[in-house]
Amino acid sequence: MPALKINEIQEWVAFQVSPYRLKHIQGVAQTSVRLAKRYGLPEEEALLAGWLHDCAKEKTRVEMKQWIRKAGFHLDPEEEKIPGLWHPHAGAAMALVKWGIKDKGVLEAIRCHTLGSPKMGPLAQAVFVADFIEPSRHFKGVDLARALARRNLKEAVLAKASITIQFLFEKRMKIHPRLLETWNQFLLEH
Ligand SMILES: [Fe+2]
Ligand SMILES: [Fe+2]
Repeated sequence: MPALKINEIQEWVAFQVSPYRLKHIQGVAQTSVRLAKRYGLPEEEALLAGWLHDCAKEKTRVEMKQWIRKAGFHLDPEEEKIPGLWHPHAGAAMALVKWGIKDKGVLEAIRCHTLGSPKMGPLAQAVFVADFIEPSRHFKGVDLARALARRNLKEAVLAKASITIQFLFEKRMKIHPRLLETWNQFLLEH
């Protein structure tokens, strides 16, 4: 990926989202690169996935569906019912269709950044964790998650999964089965 294209993508993302979201995105990109360095993962791919992970977050439901269709992606029946879970797929669709990004690891990292996946690779793990611990995140448990991310990426995946599941329980919100599958799988692997 030429440096010029990354600059172009960064400028474009800044026009897709609010300043508040842009700050989060910059934090995720920076943290993804830091984790990539720490765990020997491709830094340029981490930067790209971090920048693009929430690019569709502020699109309308209609727009998100259009991008998902254009890319030939599919939502599972549970995701269909929860519009908050559409933006990872729509974001990966924009990366693929608008920017011609075909790298499987980058697309997986964008698509799995919210629920994780029991099969996700190391780059997707790094972005999944970066989304949770980037510098502008403040919640109970974030410091522990940050400390774990420095030592063991899979432990940090487990921390995000468990804290998120706990939050959803407390709010009496629906838990997508893939988040539980992520938890169950990484429990075996870490
Ligand atoms: Fe997101
Ligand atoms: Fe995010």
